[in-house]
Amino acid sequence: MNDASLADNPFAARYARDFAASPRNAVIDTLLAHRSWRAFKPDPLPAGTLETLIAAGQSAATSSNMQTWSVVAVEDPARRAELLKLGENQKQILEAPLVLCFVADLSRLAAIADRINHKRAGLDYLELFMVAAIDSALAAQNVCVAAESLALGTCYLGVLRNHPEEVAAFLKLPPMAAVTFGLAIGFPDPKRPANIKPRLAQGSVLHRETYDAAQALAPVADYEVALDAFNKRERNGQPLWGLRSSARVAGPESLSGRDRLKFALRQLGFPLL
Ligand SMILES: Cc1cc2nc3c(=O)[nH]c(=O)nc-3n(C[C@H](O)[C@H](O)[C@H](O)COP(=O)(O)O)c2cc1C
Repeated sequence: MNDASLADNPFAARYARDFAASPRNAVIDTLLAHRSWRAFKPDPLPAGTLETLIAAGQSAATSSNMQTWSVVAVEDPARRAELLKLGENQKQILEAPLVLCFVADLSRLAAIADRINHKRAGLDYLELFMVAAIDSALAAQNVCVAAESLALGTCYLGVLRNHPEEVAAFLKLPPMAAVTFGLAIGFPDPKRPANIKPRLAQGSVLHRETYDAAQALAPVADYEVALDAFNKRERNGQPLWGLRSSARVAGPESLSGRDRLKFALRQLGFPLL
């Protein structure tokens, strides 16, 4: 799949096979052209870019308009070098001029309730942590799409959940706030390109009216072949997708330290009742 055919039909690039769909417009083309960038030029972002991106993030839907998320922008190269250590040396943290740390943030709502002497025990439930985590993800994805529409590259950084307490301390988060993931943002380095990674055929994820478990599995074998070809083109030697994904969830030891996440979140002030 080359750039010419991608421009022609971005759906085909997404599924690594003939696929046509309509309608199409510039927003959909931006979404379909997504790829994670892990190599960035050192160029700073143009003035106002951060604020534009955050406005896009704040435009996402948010549960009951509670807006239970925050974001900490880390731009200072010395601070990014520190964050690099907490991010298992993923070099995009250092290369990208901006790392946004998205926060599931119940602290603001807690303080607001306290200020008006209102009960707020509902915040202690897992449900509210989930609300905050979802809010943060929806905002982040809006930021991601906005950045890509400005020809910037992005890379999510779930790795920031490997050391939740240290990351929270590094960002000086208050209690009831935890980083859900980071997002590295910068100008992609064209010398180290990223390409569109194919996804499962829609038959795997799209069910009509009721869930069909057999249908969910049917496209997997073909997908593994397509993704393997992609990985070989990228010179990225990896086991087949099913094996690699299974290895990622094999046991607590496969979770990069995140098997203790519930404990860490409780340390950070989320009772998770
Ligand atoms: C919540 C989340 C966390 C992620 N964490 C990381 C990460 O720590 N490091 C990384 O290099 N990529 C990370 N990724 C990127 C995924 O690996 C990537 O989206 C996936 O392989 C699909 O590739 P694509 O984005 O290029 O289509 C993360 C993605 C998401 C959604």
